[in-house]
Amino acid sequence: MKKIYLYGNWKMNMLPEEGEEFCRSLADRISGRLYGSDLVDICLFPPFLAIPAVLKALPAGPVSAGAQDGYFEDRGAFTGAVSMTMVRSVGCSHVLVGHSERRHIFGETDEVVAMKLKKALNSGLKTVLCFGETLEEREGGKTIQVVQDQLLSAFQSVPEVRARDLVLAYEPVWAIGTGKNASPDDAQEVCAFAAKLALEAFGSGSLIPVLYGGSVKDSNAAELLSRQDIYGALVGGASLKVDSFLAIYENYRKAFTG
Ligand code: PGA
Repeated sequence: MKKIYLYGNWKMNMLPEEGEEFCRSLADRISGRLYGSDLVDICLFPPFLAIPAVLKALPAGPVSAGAQDGYFEDRGAFTGAVSMTMVRSVGCSHVLVGHSERRHIFGETDEVVAMKLKKALNSGLKTVLCFGETLEEREGGKTIQVVQDQLLSAFQSVPEVRARDLVLAYEPVWAIGTGKNASPDDAQEVCAFAAKLALEAFGSGSLIPVLYGGSVKDSNAAELLSRQDIYGALVGGASLKVDSFLAIYENYRKAFTG
């Protein structure tokens, strides 16, 4: 049984007081052996304005908090933007980069993603680089090519000494928020490919975990997470309630321990 990364992306949900309430109920649920830091690594990604409340209420144990995005400049005339330095300075340890909603709704290109990735890693943040194909690309047989292009363009900007702070998240665009997850075989194939590219780029000194995201929930978690190259889940919808969020990890464990 491997250590599982259970990452919750709240997207544009949760007011500060709701985030605080979530943390209180999370604290009640995770005390005990099942949640040792050698078994699970939990990170919450609240909207910016809820981050301080969440950080304050974060339970002890293997739980941390991060931002859903950050800009590549430190400061200046960038209305509406929040820099990676700011993310770090409020106490976040993690950040997401290149989420498909940033790419597709907000028009972020591979170049912008690469610049954010570099800045995030240089700011000392553990950085989750999201990547994945659209339905059209999958149906056109282009998944591996698209994933390779996204990853290689991003990898070029990774400072070598910082590679150990990189986490990859394979999130097929068509599986996000649709209730339609990738099959465990398909997810495993792409995660294994991503792990291979990371190994070629950074060597075996930096073990870079690859997570799967896209409609992960309690009922599909055990099958997905038990695949060899899937080290965890980036969870959207099911991360908004403590029970459905933790059930993802607990069901995986149950599949091994009975
Ligand atoms: P979902 O979102 O679990 O609601 O599909 C995943 C994500 O966007 O990270």
